[in-house]
Amino acid sequence: MEIFTPRLLEEAAHAFADRLATGKLVGAFVAGSGISLAAPGWEKGPETPYAEVFPFPVFELPGHTPTVTVWRRGDAELLVFNGRFHLYQGYSAAQVAAIPRLAGLLGSPVYVATNASGSMDRAALPGSLVVVRDHLNFQGTSPLMGEWIRWRPPTFPDLTDAYDPNLRAVAVRCAREAGFAVTEGVYVATLGANYETPAEVEAYRRMGGTVVGMSTVQEVIAARHLGMRVLVLSLATNMAAGIAGRPLTHTEVLEAGEAARARLQTLLQGLVAELCSGGA
Ligand code: HPA
Repeated sequence: MEIFTPRLLEEAAHAFADRLATGKLVGAFVAGSGISLAAPGWEKGPETPYAEVFPFPVFELPGHTPTVTVWRRGDAELLVFNGRFHLYQGYSAAQVAAIPRLAGLLGSPVYVATNASGSMDRAALPGSLVVVRDHLNFQGTSPLMGEWIRWRPPTFPDLTDAYDPNLRAVAVRCAREAGFAVTEGVYVATLGANYETPAEVEAYRRMGGTVVGMSTVQEVIAARHLGMRVLVLSLATNMAAGIAGRPLTHTEVLEAGEAARARLQTLLQGLVAELCSGGA
């Protein structure tokens, strides 16, 4: 039995709007795995813990309280989520999708997600940024299951161009202008919480996958269902199992990300500027 219902989500969105978001949302940003977004020139609001926003129990690791923050400039607002819900933590697909749905109900026209992934493409070395152009969902679930399918139209949303071609082009251009390269690729989503076997990685690669990770696609499906334009930037923190030729460690995944974070930050800032000027 799903205890997180559409009604609870809508109540949470109303409460959030009354308390925190009063202006015109330009976009919602979700930062995964140690990635953070700072918006120079914007005024940062309070960091509100997810436990105060979402109507279900939020698991916290010591020292890592996931929070949402509204950044303001004039009456323009950015919604910045630090941390996300994962299926492998035991959240349902609908709970994982609560972040984009909250953003959508608050009126955000754009949903930008970042994540960490393993590269299955020998040309995308650790530290590469991949602009996601499509996905393969191997998570075996959808945030539209159950009562969420009757919540809002469309019933069977189309996922052609789920990853907005204009936003992708802006991301590629911002990277070029900042002097670094990004590739476009296909994100393969697995359930986790284990890394893949070499045989799985080989199969995903042959199916057209570029990078593999354990998040984001439930969010993308929910965001598209609500009509938001989506951009996903994936930071390849390691070569996927079997490609590196040695076992993976979580420490390696966390550390490899450090070097590329500044570039990701630059890209996100360029994107915010484009969204505000209407160029995206
Ligand atoms: N596989 C799955 N998820 C990941 C990886 C990986 O190799 N690296 C970072 N997140």
